[in-house]
Amino acid sequence: MNLMNDNFDSFDEYVMAFDFNEFAIKRKYEHSYRVMRESDAIVYSLGLEEDDSYLACLIGLLHDIGRFIQWRDYHTYSDYKSVNHALLGAKILFDDGLIKKFKLEEKYYNLVRTAIENHGVYKLNEKQYDEQTLLHLKIIRDADKIDILYQLSNPKILELNEENNDDITEEIKEKFYKHESIEKKNVKNENDNTLMKIAMVYDLNYKYSKDAVLERGYLDRMLDSLKNKKLFKPYIEEAKKYLKGSDR
Ligand SMILES: [Fe+2]
Repeated sequence: MNLMNDNFDSFDEYVMAFDFNEFAIKRKYEHSYRVMRESDAIVYSLGLEEDDSYLACLIGLLHDIGRFIQWRDYHTYSDYKSVNHALLGAKILFDDGLIKKFKLEEKYYNLVRTAIENHGVYKLNEKQYDEQTLLHLKIIRDADKIDILYQLSNPKILELNEENNDDITEEIKEKFYKHESIEKKNVKNENDNTLMKIAMVYDLNYKYSKDAVLERGYLDRMLDSLKNKKLFKPYIEEAKKYLKGSDR
């Protein structure tokens, strides 16, 4: 992590050019650092070497670098309503050359680019990647999800919209109970969207990540912040049961 210190100034300098008075910008800045720390913790739990630890931290810090321009230009974090923030981030770093401000050996450019581009895709086609790239994809995808669930457990940071009814699309309900994560394009209403967020736990790869979400009480706190507790409690319980399960 010590080697990483040099990268913090470059990252801060990049982000400070945006309007930090906007909560949305500040929120993504803080998210980036928390994801970096989660990535570091996952690496530690896996007992990986220094090189992988460094790569995981740098990918964690930079994975959402496209968010700042996305917000500045579109005022939304919805990729559907604007641009794919992951591809935009990779473009800024590797096509426009921002990566030169960070300490990274060129031999790792492809790996870092691939990890950033695919950190948010619905499902990974694991056969497509070499072993080390796949490792880093799994790490960033877990670290990002841990922090999204953290944010959702704090309504001051990220609030869920809910509708005043019990509508949840049948196929989404089915997927949820099959312990499958839910694809954004299948989400038909706000309650589906909330269920999609809870179902993120089904895509976690590592024991560290599952334990973190469970033991820090993110799901319980998320339920506390929801208005329609009666509707969502059984889903929260199912997700917790999954996280506690032995099939890890
Ligand atoms: Fe993220």
